[in-house]
Amino acid sequence: MSRLVTVLNGPNLNLLGQREPEIYGSETIADVERACHARANELKLEVHFHQSNREYELIDWIHEARGRAGGIVINPAAFTHTSVALLDALNAFEGPVIEVHISNIHKREEFRHHSFVSRRADGVIAGCGVQGYELALLRLARLIDATG
Ligand code: DQA
Repeated sequence: MSRLVTVLNGPNLNLLGQREPEIYGSETIADVERACHARANELKLEVHFHQSNREYELIDWIHEARGRAGGIVINPAAFTHTSVALLDALNAFEGPVIEVHISNIHKREEFRHHSFVSRRADGVIAGCGVQGYELALLRLARLIDATG
């Protein structure tokens, strides 16, 4: 299986570090990207890291991952709770998918408790802060190693 992992981030995550720091912390999306590359390096993975506020761009990146990437890490942000289109795109991807939320969505407003993406995700990490991305990479490395 390919050791390329696509890491996707949905809307408003470009404002990480500035937006509601009491919920999402003070690290920026650039910090998260750096941490992902460092961890991926240790795990002998290659990471393609993207953020977009546009649903179609996230869908296009999932399509690009088809047949190429060994796994996807996705924080769909608010699209988690609204997007059947992202779910459909992930259903067209053959490898493992780990869903990440920086905050614990189950501790928050009721509308955040439901995730369309969770119907497809092989694992869900929520409430571990931005460390959740590194935990997701660790899990994908294990799954990719297991399939050889
Ligand atoms: C989030 C949780 C979502 O409910 C929210 O819309 C986000 C970020 C998280 O990482 O905790 O934008 O996905």
